Amino acid sequence: MKVTVVGAGAVGASCAEYIAIKNFASEVVLLDIKENYAEGKAMDLMQTASLNGFDTKIVGSTNDYSKTSGSDIAVITSGIPRKPGMTREELIGINAGIVKTVATSLVAASPNVILIIVSNPMDTMTYLAHQATGLPKRRIIGMGGALDSARFKYRLAEALDCPQSDINGMVIGGHSDKGMVPLTRLATRNSVPVSKFISDERLNEVLEATKVGGATLTGMLGTSAWYAPGAAVSSLVQSIACDQKKMFPCSSLLEGEYGLNDLCIGVPVILGSNGIEKIVEIELSEAEQNKLNESAEGVKATNALLTQTS
Ligand code: 2OP
Repeated sequence: MKVTVVGAGAVGASCAEYIAIKNFASEVVLLDIKENYAEGKAMDLMQTASLNGFDTKIVGSTNDYSKTSGSDIAVITSGIPRKPGMTREELIGINAGIVKTVATSLVAASPNVILIIVSNPMDTMTYLAHQATGLPKRRIIGMGGALDSARFKYRLAEALDCPQSDINGMVIGGHSDKGMVPLTRLATRNSVPVSKFISDERLNEVLEATKVGGATLTGMLGTSAWYAPGAAVSSLVQSIACDQKKMFPCSSLLEGEYGLNDLCIGVPVILGSNGIEKIVEIELSEAEQNKLNESAEGVKATNALLTQTS
């Protein structure tokens, strides 16, 4: 199993590190446009192999896509990250051109590749990857919902004062501060609805903290987060590489599912060796469906900016 990660910044390097530590891939290629940068990160990571006990070979490349040839899965993290006070949508002007070039170069080198998109604005970049490559919908996956759900579980565990492993919960909708739809109604602690443990007011605080999870960290770190994004990507990659058929909310091209069309947005999907094996349509309440519809309108408004930036 060969995995490429494009972008050797903090998010890309963290993806490569977690994939390697989980020890399911034979090779990870880390590619960046900055001369020798990916090679340096790859060498540094390879020097952790005997300490962390993995056998995955990590190779660096300065923009040489021939090194990515034959990749089964490729992760696109390239582009500029958010600075404090910026929305993910504000990155579209620069990131659209980068993601388009990267996606087409990856597919040219590895025609059977499955793409995972991390670059922001993530739902629009996932849609752009579809437009640029024409790959079947099962082979392009946007990462945001898996990360947002991890942040939701962190906030729920904090509010319930319990271990995160007790918590189950999911965030659907767009990967944006306004567009996320944390499904509080369905969140549980070992099958018991979380509403049995905390007040509606506290649950609402959890919901709001989840939605600004990325912005909160950007404010604290001065740039966007990397550990949780890297861990989220590695879980998606592992589910595909090991045909685990796990369910994650991921940005997927919708063609009528959830009553939505012609956009990529976070919905639950099953990830296996074919990429998106199935889009799972759960029954939403009227309020949840309305929030998803509003979120879809926001994503479509950002998608419309693509024609201005191309
Ligand atoms: C985040 O929310 C990188 O969009 C990503 O941290």
